[in-house]
Amino acid sequence: MPTAVPSRGRVLSVLLCAVLVLSGCNFGGADDSGAPDASPSAQQSKGAGESSAGQEIRTRTLTSFAPRYHATWPVVPGADALNQELADEVTRQVDAFTAEVEPGGTAAPELNIGWRLVAQSDQVVAVRLDTYEFAGASGAESSRTWWFDPATGRVLDNRELIADPEALGIALAASVEDPDADRSRIRRAAEEGLDDLEFTSTGALRVRFDEYAVAPGSSGEVVVTLDTARTELVLSDFGRLASAAASSLATDDESQGLVTPAPPEETPEPVETETPLKPEASGSTPPEPREVNCRKAKCVALTFDDGPVSDTTRLLRTLRRLDVPATFFVLGQQAATYPELVAKTARAGHEIGIHTWDHKQLTSLKPPAIRQEMRSAAREVRRITGRAPTLVRPPYGATDARVQRIARELGLAQVLWSVDTLDWKRKAAKPVIAEVKKSTRRGSIILMHDIHRTSVDAVPGVVKALQAKGYTLVTVSQLLGKTKPGQKYYSGAR
Ligand code: NI
Repeated sequence: MPTAVPSRGRVLSVLLCAVLVLSGCNFGGADDSGAPDASPSAQQSKGAGESSAGQEIRTRTLTSFAPRYHATWPVVPGADALNQELADEVTRQVDAFTAEVEPGGTAAPELNIGWRLVAQSDQVVAVRLDTYEFAGASGAESSRTWWFDPATGRVLDNRELIADPEALGIALAASVEDPDADRSRIRRAAEEGLDDLEFTSTGALRVRFDEYAVAPGSSGEVVVTLDTARTELVLSDFGRLASAAASSLATDDESQGLVTPAPPEETPEPVETETPLKPEASGSTPPEPREVNCRKAKCVALTFDDGPVSDTTRLLRTLRRLDVPATFFVLGQQAATYPELVAKTARAGHEIGIHTWDHKQLTSLKPPAIRQEMRSAAREVRRITGRAPTLVRPPYGATDARVQRIARELGLAQVLWSVDTLDWKRKAAKPVIAEVKKSTRRGSIILMHDIHRTSVDAVPGVVKALQAKGYTLVTVSQLLGKTKPGQKYYSGAR
């Protein structure tokens, strides 16, 4: 394990020991294995080398470019009922989204689901799913926590955390700060059962009500936090265990704030004072890739998005055997879960750029959220590798003037691509290799995804085909030379 692991990564690493990633993607249902029964389902890709005895957490991903969705959730060992409910919920949301999405619109609708482990002890495990849905004009967020009791193997409803719903209603009505909130509706909602409960770092109960649920739309969502004394009074025995397990896991990591990235519409944009991230003094410095003069050599760059996942280990082995460098555009969420893999990738001499925190379409967000998506991922990579990334690949390739401006402020050049292998759709090695053969030119930036097993399978053939045509594989920074923050690069043609 690396010495400088970020707080979220550290929490996960310490609690869950070494990690075995299990990840995959679905684009219409073929060749899945071990997936939830409903459609769409997740393709598993078991990695080697990351496992250890004891607790292992794995992740699964469902993702698609068209329509645009990206959903990641955990598989917690020994928590079958919890895992099933999480998989069912993600599948339900993805199905609902794909059924209602209108193809062919200009503003791309999008579904994004991320997860957090919010409580972990011998008595309670809790996972929170954060959903962001962009309908083409505005984004909506919702979250829900699943509570699991290892003693009984049961997933518990929010209601089972509360001993006295009537007392909870009275406490919430007394604690709500919004003057426009309807206290009688709050009390009624508490008695009927609340959708969104969580605990603060001090173990206090925090309740969120959706927009319009207990107040006029002008209030937005209403959040009520009880003080610890009131929290104590309303919790059941399991609720108290949950509170203790949640507060022991809570951190002040800014990434935790990513679940509610979008500020209200009228918030003025802050004055831009952002300075580019500087490398931290600590942390091991990755080796420089070997010198290549791309003015002479026919350079091209292989790039891999959306990881790391367990199969990244296999990809690293393949790249090492072939003795070629690549560039990885990692998600902050995955990097925080699997810091060892990111560190290993950097140590092997590959370049690490960012792909945002959790794969939200940046053009659907407001500037503070765009900034947070990029900055948190960049910080995560810097903490793990000791080096601040200088490249960002916007998810879905979606960028605009605001994304460009914020990337510039953060010292990140935008890297798109000139060869799209469509590996996410083709899900087979052969057509990916054929596409690379057909479309690659001098200076090409080739887009692939290490979350697909078939993409990793294709790499030896891709590299062989490129080398046979006289191409030299380099990192994106070697290909582009000195990059200009904010600027978009599709290839290194010069
Ligand atoms: Ni991506």
